[in-house]
Amino acid sequence: MSTIVYLNGEFMPLEEAKISPIDRGFLFADGIYEVSAVLDGKMIENQPHMARLDRSLGEIGMDVPWSMDEIADIMQQVADKNGIVEGMVYLQITRGADWDKVRDFGFPKDPKPTMFMFGQHKNLSADPAAEKGIRVITIPEIRWERRDIKSVALLAQTLGKQAAKDAGVDDAWMVEDGLVTEGTSNSAFIITENDELIARPLTNEILPGITRIAVLKLAEEMQLKVVEGKFDPEQAYKAKEAFSTSASALVAPVVEIDGHRIGDGKPGVYTKRLRELYLEEARKSIA
Ligand code: PDD
Repeated sequence: MSTIVYLNGEFMPLEEAKISPIDRGFLFADGIYEVSAVLDGKMIENQPHMARLDRSLGEIGMDVPWSMDEIADIMQQVADKNGIVEGMVYLQITRGADWDKVRDFGFPKDPKPTMFMFGQHKNLSADPAAEKGIRVITIPEIRWERRDIKSVALLAQTLGKQAAKDAGVDDAWMVEDGLVTEGTSNSAFIITENDELIARPLTNEILPGITRIAVLKLAEEMQLKVVEGKFDPEQAYKAKEAFSTSASALVAPVVEIDGHRIGDGKPGVYTKRLRELYLEEARKSIA
């Protein structure tokens, strides 16, 4: 089955989807994106993703002609049309092409946003990376200051992921002023020897992860002490467990940081339980 994508009001095969080279997403990374997970053929937690999308659009002053419910409905249609049972739907909205000025830093007078979506199959519930755990390195944080906005400007993250790849590991955690901010495309957590789950507080310095919210709630229900605080790489090396969360990997156990083995080098007990509970809750919410 060929991949069916959505572009500006139409569903079409990927090969037929065309966007202007003067689209502001291409020229200026002037756009917002979202990635939502699909389990059992249904979008999970898509309402909070839509709330974050709405907020991101507002923060960059972009009005769109679609309601968040309409967008969520189209995302589900993308999953359906591609027969996605498990995986993700990617959505991107840019400020469109400025036919008048072609390339002007200021916003066009009458912007016509571009909306694009595609789906991806991925084994989320039995992800081999989650069984084995992932290895990460730390790298300097070089992103802009509004990381709370889910901007399509992802050059720093692509460089980070490539640095991880070059180092022969799976991902990179970014470090600013000696403290871990987050992973290149996920929220970062550690569990200390005292069974405290440390999560960086939500500010402009990190993206407010949707998976993060659910996992912190589950952690509290599991009687783990949740501490919203910052941690440094040294604390992470000595952690009992470490993990990251995202719509594309759900809860990913981290078993090595900068060559330091975390715990016994296998996914931790708490992390595995959080992952199981997250999957259970997500499935219940769509049943
Ligand atoms: N990334 N932090 C960053 C920088 C991210 O890019 C993401 C998600 C997260 C986790 O957010 P959520 O739990 O809402 O997925 C945290 C997506 C998956 C991506 O860029 O592909």
